[in-house]
Amino acid sequence: MIPDFPFFTDEHKMIQQAARDFAQNEIAPIAAEFDETGKFPVETIAKMGEMGFMGIEVPEEYGGAEMDTLAYVLALEEISKADASHGTIMSVNNSLFNYGILKFGTEEQKQKFITPVASGEKIGAYSLTEPMSGSDAGTMRSRAVRDGDYYILNGRKSWVTGGPVADYVVVFMMTEPEKKHRGVTAFLIETDKPGFIRGKKEPKLGIRASATSEIVFEDYRCPVENRLGEEGQGFKIAMTVLDAGRIGIGAQALGIAEAAYEASVQYVQEREAFGKKIGQFQGTGFKIADMKTRIEAARLLVYHAALAKERSKTTGERFTLQSSMAKLFASETAMFCAHAAVQIHGGMGYSKELPVERYFRDAKITEIYEGTSEIQRLVISRLETGLR
Ligand code: CAA
Repeated sequence: MIPDFPFFTDEHKMIQQAARDFAQNEIAPIAAEFDETGKFPVETIAKMGEMGFMGIEVPEEYGGAEMDTLAYVLALEEISKADASHGTIMSVNNSLFNYGILKFGTEEQKQKFITPVASGEKIGAYSLTEPMSGSDAGTMRSRAVRDGDYYILNGRKSWVTGGPVADYVVVFMMTEPEKKHRGVTAFLIETDKPGFIRGKKEPKLGIRASATSEIVFEDYRCPVENRLGEEGQGFKIAMTVLDAGRIGIGAQALGIAEAAYEASVQYVQEREAFGKKIGQFQGTGFKIADMKTRIEAARLLVYHAALAKERSKTTGERFTLQSSMAKLFASETAMFCAHAAVQIHGGMGYSKELPVERYFRDAKITEIYEGTSEIQRLVISRLETGLR
């Protein structure tokens, strides 16, 4: 079933259908192979760029499709339903890379960095985490020291989606460590320059085709004109960008949950045990009911967050609460549905002959990256109570 709501415009329906067709025809058939090999899907990502999926909210003048956040979410949901790895790559390029530069970048930075990424010619990445700084992102140790018209960057960053292949990276480093999070600055990195080293590739449980690695900086010379925002503004930029990113992960999780659900409905209608379709047993039917109900609730939270982000483009209001709630609930829904789907499929759910085990492995990351479920709960409770 393709979801439809009164607030969908013709443009929303068009991109939803285009993404669905592309995902089912071009991505679904190759998803298992890329999951198995862990290879980065260069060709399909380039095609997605040509179709406008790598810069959905980017204005046409910077090579984007100039659509709204809901259009982005609907397309990402459909892509992730076919393959969460493609969903991750799409999400990082659209939200974590393009969005931050659109919001905080100079005209020159937008032209130089967004245009090739929005068109799919180049790959962007976002790098906040370090080996000893994860949820406590303000404790990073990487250093950037001003030297005339350059900053000299040194440090090790981890868990960078697209790290092994990215052409550009938004990276966050300490310029004034004594100021703690207020001493963080953001930089736009060109990865073909000396001092940028691609580190160990992570052997991951899921989203295996999305290419994740460490990146290392050894006296990397970043020109001052590639600083994103002002000195000391980096932590705020990182958090603002994650507010957008988390809506994308909510959409990705929704796509995974739907894929697990649809496979389950089909299976319970076909598979028989004890002389009946297994969907006729209440134990199975109730699982289907719970999956469906949670998916529709997650959908409303994700679309609601998308609408809040769209509204913020004119009001300037933050959408942190809506974004964290959408990410939290949708990711736990993905995990719930993938878990139920494996159980419903029994032995076949545990076999690589069906995609259900991949949904299970892929779902888990949505509860971890771009802020764990625990961090989302912390953000929501702090905002609601004013306590910390
Ligand atoms: N928007 C704008 N500003 C924000 C903000 C937001 N959403 N959240 C916090 N800030 C600002 C605060 O207003 C505060 O500003 P002042 O200095 O002016 O007071 C400042 O940031 C510090 O805020 P906190 O005191 O709340 O900071 P904290 O140290 O307690 O941390 C946190 C808050 C929510 C725990 C945050 O550190 C966080 O989100 N951690 C998780 C990090 C994360 O998601 N990492 C994933 C990285 S990306 C990834 O997964 C890899 C990939 O490639 C996909």
